[in-house]
Amino acid sequence: MDRKEELAVGRRLLGHIDCRTTDLAADMFRNQTIAYACRDRAALEREKLFRERPLLMGLSSRLAKPGDYLTEDVVGMPVLLVRDGTGSVQAFANVCRHRGAPVAQGCGNARAFTCPYHGWTYDLAGRLLGATDKPGFAGLDIAAHGLVPLPTVEKHGMIYVRPGVPRPGESRTIDIDAELGVFAPPLAALQLDDFVLHSTDRIAPRINWKFAVDTFLESYHIAHLHRKTIAPYFVGNCCVFDSGGLHGRASFVKNSIDKTRAEPEDERRYLPHIVQIYQLFPNSLLVWQMDHIEIWRTFPKQGDPGVCEVELTLYKPVETTKPDSYWEKNRDIAIRTVLDEDFPLGERMQIGFESGATEEVVYGRNEPALVHFHRSIRQALGVAA
Ligand code: FES
Ligand SMILES: [Fe+2]
Repeated sequence: MDRKEELAVGRRLLGHIDCRTTDLAADMFRNQTIAYACRDRAALEREKLFRERPLLMGLSSRLAKPGDYLTEDVVGMPVLLVRDGTGSVQAFANVCRHRGAPVAQGCGNARAFTCPYHGWTYDLAGRLLGATDKPGFAGLDIAAHGLVPLPTVEKHGMIYVRPGVPRPGESRTIDIDAELGVFAPPLAALQLDDFVLHSTDRIAPRINWKFAVDTFLESYHIAHLHRKTIAPYFVGNCCVFDSGGLHGRASFVKNSIDKTRAEPEDERRYLPHIVQIYQLFPNSLLVWQMDHIEIWRTFPKQGDPGVCEVELTLYKPVETTKPDSYWEKNRDIAIRTVLDEDFPLGERMQIGFESGATEEVVYGRNEPALVHFHRSIRQALGVAA
């Protein structure tokens, strides 16, 4: 956020605090509970949201050096991401062209990938270097049996992948600035290249993946559910919301912003008192905490709309004098709040959604980020309800 935006957002937040108001959506929004619990809906989401759209895989520092790689199953697509010898990020289906075994496991640094099954080896650009039994595969077109590439792009310190094999005639590139729209410049301004991975946590709560996103999109619940943890630090039910295409950005505010009132208005430093959450459609949340960044990504579990996988990665500045214990404390607060308070209640809500007891949930005008998120989902899926 540049200085002009900082002043504007800070002013809007102080105005809301003074008037006990918050940014409002144009209308309340009703969503069918089947959106959280229906298998057909989950199958449509998998196709439209998790195959056809670019997904944030993390910050560039996850693959710092040539040869650094990571693997991940993205809703049933095994993905291998690697920084090749020229320094470019490449993405492939992690599926051997012999008989389909994953050629890489976990993460690390490699000069080549040797399939554990029969030893076929691929270079960092995905080219098959050779089969291990030459007579058995005499005549095999080696050049035509490289790993299947997936569209990927690295920009503004982020890595994106579209985890669907492009159909004939379909674009093999991702125009990430077009995808991010109005949020491309502020995301570039965050200088995400200057952050390195501190920790990765993964959990599999029994909730729909969208509920895991919902958790972050309103502060209406803070005074109630988080009464004993973070409520004393935050102004509940107060946010400034900006939409940008299918994405959104919610700015939440800490009580400590009151201290800025002693300063002349144009000298105030609002940033230390604001937590900004970029909701990067469809499934990622980039939480800007001023001195560190959390990225939450949530993925539906294949075949079960009532379970998801959630990953929290915490990134710290490349250059920092703060000890690891400081970042651990931040990680602990983030994890504890969500795991001990949000998700356990969410699991009860998921049971409620699946029970058929109610047909709808309703998001209030005071929950504009939620309204925008679910409107965006409908738009991307091409469904009316
Ligand atoms: S499946 Fe990979 S070498 Fe056989
Ligand atoms: Fe919460």
